[in-house]
Amino acid sequence: MATAPRRARIASVGRFLPERRLTNQDLEQLVDTTDEWILSRTGIRERRILDPGLGCSFMALRAARECLERAGVSADQVDAIIVGTVTPDMFFPSTACLVQKGLGAERAWGFDLSAGCSGFVFALTTGAMLVESGRYERVLAIGADVMSSIIDYQDRNTCILFGDAAGAVLLEPCTEPGFGILDYVQRIDGIGEDYLHMKAGGSRHPASEETVRNREHYAYQEGRTVFKYAVNEMANVSVEILRRNNLVGADVKLLVPHQANLRIIEACAKKMGIGMDRVIVNIDRYANTTAATVPLCLYEAVVEKQQVSRGDYLVVSAFGAGFTWGSVLVRWA
Ligand code: UT7
Repeated sequence: MATAPRRARIASVGRFLPERRLTNQDLEQLVDTTDEWILSRTGIRERRILDPGLGCSFMALRAARECLERAGVSADQVDAIIVGTVTPDMFFPSTACLVQKGLGAERAWGFDLSAGCSGFVFALTTGAMLVESGRYERVLAIGADVMSSIIDYQDRNTCILFGDAAGAVLLEPCTEPGFGILDYVQRIDGIGEDYLHMKAGGSRHPASEETVRNREHYAYQEGRTVFKYAVNEMANVSVEILRRNNLVGADVKLLVPHQANLRIIEACAKKMGIGMDRVIVNIDRYANTTAATVPLCLYEAVVEKQQVSRGDYLVVSAFGAGFTWGSVLVRWA
């Protein structure tokens, strides 16, 4: 008799949100913008900003700790730690190493994963594959970004969009057949380089007085082009994952989308046939926190609003720098 494939399930969620708020009104004082423009074009009202001197690992560690506490799992039971981020504390060591040390996760290995706003989704699916392999029992998948560390607060095109936060999930083997993380679709296309990148600080253009003078250590985005790719491709993979699992929008309890722009989220939900009452939206409060948006949404649905019950289908989707994008089908266990 053929045995069912081993799957992973999301066993717990944790998050960290910095206290400090940066509102649209605050940004009106910094650049030529208005609350009305930001709200109508993006859906954002305010974002959280981490205090200077605290890196990505500060937030990732706190999200991971809450996640383990909620699960009643101790740090020495964690087998692997994957951190999706584009704003690590340092190029090396990895943020995963810093989280491992902070947790005291003595048995764990792990690594950082760079996939822009898809960082958490790719960490989630990679973590699920580790569990599916049968070699690992407990994997922490984390999305954490200190976007304020790479944002030019003189550039109104980008500074209104981003915030800081971290979220974590614990993945464990799913003992019930037909439940857990059922399927994933994920893609990359390097065509995105031209439209969303950080010009300097890497090996092609290492930091120099000139790169600093030219403000090349900040996130650069051609918003309109990225918007067009995001609005199409995030919807395409979200529809594809439904189709290939013989599901329709009406079967889905919640869409858990990356929070880059409310208009992108609405378009994705519409193409999937999902009403906005079944979509998690918190971009108004936290803006685009890059790799942290999806776990923040999961936290809101699972912990704060308790909207998710056993057997519910969730679709998790993201699109980001690279380009990178993907969609994950979860049946809550
Ligand atoms: O998460 C990673 C992936 N990223 C995304 O998915 C982001 C995708 N892009 C977007 O969400 C949108 O393109 C933005 C929100 C970034 C921009 O919205 P848009 O509707 O595409 O505006 P736009 O860039 O076409 O700019 C329209 C106008 C321009 O003025 P002109 O050229 O029409 O005179 C901009 O200069 O709005 C101007 N503008 C602003 N005005 C007030 C740009 N930024 C601002 C601002 N305040 N902050």
